[in-house]
Amino acid sequence: MAIVSPSLLSADFGNLASSIEMINRSEAEWLHIDVMDGVFVPNISFGFPVLEYVKKLSQKPLDVHLMIVEPTKFIKQVKDCGGYIMNVHYEASTHLHRSIQQIKEAGMKAAVTLNPHTPVSLLEDIVADLDMVLLMSVNPGFGGQKFISNTVNKVAALKELILKKNSGALIEVDGGINQQTGKLVVDAGADVLVAGNWVFKSEDPIATISGLKSL
Ligand code: DX5
Ligand code: ZN
Repeated sequence: MAIVSPSLLSADFGNLASSIEMINRSEAEWLHIDVMDGVFVPNISFGFPVLEYVKKLSQKPLDVHLMIVEPTKFIKQVKDCGGYIMNVHYEASTHLHRSIQQIKEAGMKAAVTLNPHTPVSLLEDIVADLDMVLLMSVNPGFGGQKFISNTVNKVAALKELILKKNSGALIEVDGGINQQTGKLVVDAGADVLVAGNWVFKSEDPIATISGLKSL
C-alpha cells in the first residue's frame, strides 16, 4: 500500500478550501505543498501566507516541497505553517548535512529531493540521516508534465542504497504520476506517490486517490 500525497498545485485555487476538504475526506495520508521562488525553478507558486490558511484547513500532515534557493533560511516558517516533513533540493543545498540536522531540530521529518539529472549515488553519505528521499520524475516547476521513465531505475538504485546503508528513509516520487507510472515506481520500491493532475483533474478525485493507494 503506497502513501499518497496529492499535490495542491493542481487544485482549483478559487476553491482551495473545498479542495482541502476533499483531501480530508479521502484516503490520502499527506498533502503535498509545492513552494516555488522563480529562481530555483522557472515558476512561482505560493508562499507562507497561503500555507497559514492551508494549515488551518488540512487534517492531513503537510509534505512541504521547497523548490527555492537557500531553503534552510525558511525552516522556522515551514514548521510554523504546519510542516510535517520538509523537502530541500540537493541542488539548492551547500551544507546539506547541517540543513538536515536543523530541520530535525525544528521538529520536522527531513527529506532531500533530487532533480532528474542528479544520481542517487550522491546520497551515499547522507541517506542514513534522512527520513525520506524525494525523486523528481519531471523537471520541477510545473504540474501536468510527462513522467521521465529513467526514474524507475533511480528508485531501484535508491532502494539498494537505503538497504546497504541501513537507512529508514522512505522513497517518494513526484511528477507525472498516474495509475500506470505509479505502479512502475511502486514495483521498483517507492513508498510515497505525489500526484497533482491525476488526482485534481479526475472526475472522482477521492476514487483516484484510492486507486493509487491500492497499488
Ligand atoms: C512539480 C511539482 C509537483 C507537481 C506534480 O514541480 O513538484 O509536485 O505538482 O504534478 P503532476 O502530478 O501533475 O505531475
Ligand atoms: Zn512537488
